[in-house]
Amino acid sequence: MKGKGIFDVVVIGGGPGGYVAAIRAAQLGAKVLLVEKDELGGTCLNRGCIPTKTILSDVRLYDHVKHSLVVKGDRLRVDMGQLLERKNKVIKALNTGVQFLVKDYGITFVPGKAAFIDRKTIEVKGQKGREQFEGQKIIIATGSVSAQIPSVPVDGKVILTSTEILNLSSIPKDLLIIGGGTIGVEFACMFNGLGSKVTVVEMLPTPIATEDEEVIRSLSTLLKKRGIQILTDTKVKEAKVKKGRAEVTVTEKDGKENVLRAERALVAVGRSPYTEGLQLEKINLSMNGKFIKVNEKMETSVPGIYAIGDVTGRQMLAHKASAEGVAAAENALGHLARIDYSKIPNCIYTFPEVASVGLTEKQAKEKGLQVRIGRFPFQSNGKALATGDSDGFVKVIAEKDLGQVVGIHILGDHATDLIGGAVLALGLEATIEEMGKTTQPHPTLNEALSEAALDATKEAIHLPKKK
Ligand code: NAI
Repeated sequence: MKGKGIFDVVVIGGGPGGYVAAIRAAQLGAKVLLVEKDELGGTCLNRGCIPTKTILSDVRLYDHVKHSLVVKGDRLRVDMGQLLERKNKVIKALNTGVQFLVKDYGITFVPGKAAFIDRKTIEVKGQKGREQFEGQKIIIATGSVSAQIPSVPVDGKVILTSTEILNLSSIPKDLLIIGGGTIGVEFACMFNGLGSKVTVVEMLPTPIATEDEEVIRSLSTLLKKRGIQILTDTKVKEAKVKKGRAEVTVTEKDGKENVLRAERALVAVGRSPYTEGLQLEKINLSMNGKFIKVNEKMETSVPGIYAIGDVTGRQMLAHKASAEGVAAAENALGHLARIDYSKIPNCIYTFPEVASVGLTEKQAKEKGLQVRIGRFPFQSNGKALATGDSDGFVKVIAEKDLGQVVGIHILGDHATDLIGGAVLALGLEATIEEMGKTTQPHPTLNEALSEAALDATKEAIHLPKKK
């Protein structure tokens, strides 16, 4: 064992939760240690949000050109080599950026795998051997890994997780996706756009089941129109590789079994918290199932130890992890910060995109709220027609008497960018009148946000008169 460094804050895990926590702690004047076993940026930057959105952007471009009535080309094709190279370049650029920030803030970065020795001490096993460090406060930000179904063994070649599929150098003729959640539908659009025949198998009655019902219905119709087959109420029982192809046994709603075959299968059935090798048993933390239990200040059951991001469960989202990272760092250093989970947006990068913040209509009604609802279709929006992407709508849900906005749901191109305005409206507790009265620039998709709010009071300008 070598020297023993003492830090104000030790952060384990350098993903969008951990590195953000480390930077925030450094901003507040703390001496900070950040430990990461792989690359800085975690799942989000290296094998999640960033690589998928880079590829989806190229596929969307291909899709637009392929379907354009104006731009013509007979020999249009995707160069998978270039596509992967561009994806890797984007990862590299952002990774270098995070490395720079960590250095710039004077954070001590130690590559290696951390394990608890006691409630204040960790041991890091890295290239330089084993080193021990002490933290007055420790923040656990170790993330998650793809969840597995024991009877569906992932071999990384034919049966894949979202990690391996991001490095496929050829486009499979057919792809079977197990799970119609966020990952499932995003990859369905990616490979359908690339030309694969895609089938999604989902055990629930609908894909993306946590979104607003109207959004789910419309997205399902649009995905089917694209040629994506979605088998709902169908559960994957087992899978194996036979003659180099995936053979997947499913159980349908009526109990009937069926065997589906495809060149490749993707397992997208959720994510599990990653705590392997952390030696949590040495600090006796309370757990919430497999997740680390925390309160709204990100404190675990052990004083001085915090946990953030996917390892704590709830929404497994990069921006949620970052918000928790900021809160944990502030709380660890004597400030008071709490997260309001009701105002964290959700984004799904399908074609078209889905984004939402706040309550769905069903959730609002289940809470006993009387609601007013406004809707505005992108087909009535000038910019959407100009760009040729006019599928979808904005739906605003407000409490009936005071008109406070409680939920905003967007299905449409650029929904994941448009939701920013909605997050602000919800965060500032805007009423439907205030949202409707904002002057949005013309021609932009933003106009659909204020028009949807105006529709709730029957005052939308670009919709037929309401009785
Ligand atoms: P998920 O929880 O969103 O969806 C998994 C789906 O698989 C569920 O609909 C479930 O009913 C289905 N399923 C489970 N077992 C099955 C079986 N045996 N047969 C058929 N269907 C089965 O999980 P997903 O899509 O893997 O994503 C993991 C996490 O990553 C999520 O929390 C998600 O929010 C996050 N993520 C977020 C993204 C974003 O913000 N754009 C992008 C990708 C992932």
